[in-house]
Amino acid sequence: MPINLKGRSLLSLKDYKPEEIKYLLDLAFDLKSKKRAGIRTETLKGKNIVLIFDKTSTRTRTAFEVAALDEGAHVTFLTNSQMGKKESIEDTAKVLGRMYDGIEYRGFKQKVVEDLAKYSGVPVWNGLTDEAHPTQGLADVMTMMEFIHKPLNQMKVVFIGDTRNNVANTLMRISAKLGMHYVAVGPESLKPSDEMMNEALETAKETGAVIEYTSELDGVKGADVIYTDVWVSMGEEDKMPERVELLTPYRVDMDLIKKTENQNVIFLHCLPSFHDFETIVAREAKERGLDIREVTDEVFRSRHSKVFDQAENRMHTIKAIMIATL
Ligand code: CP
Ligand code: NVA
Repeated sequence: MPINLKGRSLLSLKDYKPEEIKYLLDLAFDLKSKKRAGIRTETLKGKNIVLIFDKTSTRTRTAFEVAALDEGAHVTFLTNSQMGKKESIEDTAKVLGRMYDGIEYRGFKQKVVEDLAKYSGVPVWNGLTDEAHPTQGLADVMTMMEFIHKPLNQMKVVFIGDTRNNVANTLMRISAKLGMHYVAVGPESLKPSDEMMNEALETAKETGAVIEYTSELDGVKGADVIYTDVWVSMGEEDKMPERVELLTPYRVDMDLIKKTENQNVIFLHCLPSFHDFETIVAREAKERGLDIREVTDEVFRSRHSKVFDQAENRMHTIKAIMIATL
């Protein structure tokens, strides 16, 4: 059966079959080659896309804008809208659905993206919620496929740190869908929720994936990928002191990289990252006696690190999602 995603939203990768995810990845690789070769396709000519961000962003916003503009679409970056303040999500969605061919939303509750999709009648793409970051997951796997020369079902991916955050949830979900070996390494109190773990284990029964959690650093042995994210996600800033205490033993440093016993292990991070004290947030935390670096500068800048290739791949994968669903 040919894959047809026209009209579909991407609220979470839970709703996508393995072959649909692979189709999006193939399309992203094709679009990346075309962009490199200077071939313009203008597949989205005449389309109008709106981007709504209730949380800050660098990569996701620019990836959507560049991807849309590359393909000939028009983009509105909507700020100061009435949504949620003077107008319900339902009414806003109905209005946006009359104006736009697609809606990107980043914010807090997953229910907001779900309601936008339910009431707008056009594809809605989740640009990050508290629960999920599906466009990120696609870029993550694309980057692994570029740098690890093994079939997906032979790759071991370790996410270390806050293993129940949006990025980790998504990585576990996509690893399960693609038959990969996924290990969450972090403290017990931040382990994946039972619901997420059970969903991944159910998927794994069909795909042959191996899904594990451990609090032991030895879990990184044999990893092809070491992945981490910030210790405090957007919206949970008040948790900083407790997270530093819990997660300092899980900071990614060269000793941890060596523990993988794989010279070619790659380091991934969705970014933004605290790897030095060149940011206001890291400096202010340091003044309060908190070292919030989830990875050392040495690892971040090492040959293992593919984080900027990963960031670029946000654009190619987001382009693939928009083209496939519009
Ligand atoms: N990785 C990611 O979503 O980055 P931004 O927050 O900059 O969009
Ligand atoms: N887990 C992070 C990801 C940022 C891209 C957050 O939600 O803030």
